[in-house]
Amino acid sequence: MAVFRPYVRETDQEAVRRIFREVGWSWSARQVDHEGFGEAVRVRVAEIEGEAECVATSCEGTIRHLETDLPFACILGLVTSRVARRQGLALNLLARTLAEHAAEGALVAGLGMFDQGFYDRVGFGSGPYTRSVSFNPADIAVNVKPRAPRRLSQEDWRAIHAARLARRHSHGDCSLAPPEITFAELGDPDDSFGLGYFDGPDGSLSHFLWLHGKEEHGPYRVRWLVFHTREQFHELLAVLKSLSDQVHLVGMHEPAGIQLQDLLHKPLAAQRITEGSRYANRIRTGAYYQFRMLDVPGCLAQTHLPGTATLRLNVSLTDPIEARLPDDSPWRGCAGSYVVTLGESGSAEPGEDSSLPTLKVTINAFTRLWLGVQPATGLAITDDLAGPPELLEALDRVLRLPQPDPDWDF
Ligand SMILES: CC(C)(COP(=O)(O)OP(=O)(O)OC[C@H]1O[C@@H](n2cnc3c(N)ncnc32)[C@H](O)[C@@H]1OP(=O)(O)O)[C@@H](O)C(=O)NCCC(=O)NCCS
Repeated sequence: MAVFRPYVRETDQEAVRRIFREVGWSWSARQVDHEGFGEAVRVRVAEIEGEAECVATSCEGTIRHLETDLPFACILGLVTSRVARRQGLALNLLARTLAEHAAEGALVAGLGMFDQGFYDRVGFGSGPYTRSVSFNPADIAVNVKPRAPRRLSQEDWRAIHAARLARRHSHGDCSLAPPEITFAELGDPDDSFGLGYFDGPDGSLSHFLWLHGKEEHGPYRVRWLVFHTREQFHELLAVLKSLSDQVHLVGMHEPAGIQLQDLLHKPLAAQRITEGSRYANRIRTGAYYQFRMLDVPGCLAQTHLPGTATLRLNVSLTDPIEARLPDDSPWRGCAGSYVVTLGESGSAEPGEDSSLPTLKVTINAFTRLWLGVQPATGLAITDDLAGPPELLEALDRVLRLPQPDPDWDF
């Protein structure tokens, strides 16, 4: 029988390092191993015959719905050792971890998926497509002469984290609270570096690039690009361009709200000319994140859809997580019937109103609808969401949300 419990560094460290080593994630052990990380990252293990064989790491943060930040739980890692696969350890440990976060007030959870299908079993639904752009920095079309940036190093981790938190915000973006998360992802000094400007109030770090890469001619990867204004964004791109005598390919996730192709010279010709090359220019798209609500009334109470007519409906929700929770878990997932109001002030109250139309939906699909990943009429075709056509059309009209973008890799 597996025992699910908090990680104890003194006795579990070796076993947990071994798990990460076995799955090829030795770098991830940093989030667990590093001095002082005890409180920043929540670490839970499943033990079999006295040894930790499965580990889940998570932390707190926020996720933005339009202009409101909601308490968020981020699942950073979930790994099962080679000897304990397919026994239900990972999903059962994850379900318990989510129950803890929910009991402490987190309203939504999110994670980066290894593939689609697995986390769906505990109620996660796929997030939006995000775009990753690879381009020749010589093709950047900005006419700015950048000021000489300051070098940033691993030692600047606190300032870098603070600047990440203070970045431009938009719908669907996530921020992870512990600075140690940024520290753990900085990489090693011989293959990662930062360039930035300290124009913020009191000379704080205002805009910067953090890059990974050490090959003479690239590729480089922009891990983080933080800015607030047009001028700052153009200055950072000009800095990247200034490296182009040497570096021929840079890859990055598009920052939220930015269509990077706007600032590239002849992007389609570059893609054709470099196809198949080590320095291939391209734009790759995929849904790499998944989300799930942990508390439907909590999320709806924080949902404000300005300028829309009010829509009321019954929502009949199923949630597959319940089967994974122990009997004594006070949090049992989100399954149930709710009367939902969408409009300037949202709400969800347990119960049913026979005068209202009913949406039948899984928590997976309902989370996607609420975040604005796809409209109701689209989800009705590809996901587990069903209702009268007039209701789906009314939902499409009320939930006209901008494309959500997590804008933070996890
Ligand atoms: C992913 C991983 C954590 C799963 O661990 P696990 O302990 O074997 O998973 P579980 O036993 O809890 O799996 C539960 C169920 O999901 C199923 N499952 C496993 N992989 C799946 C997939 N890719 N898609 C759908 N279902 C899947 C299992 O068959 C099992 O089904 P069952 O309950 O009907 O028997 C493990 O394979 C691993 O450590 N992989 C390497 C690291 C990694 O990629 N982690 C995830 C990071 S996002």
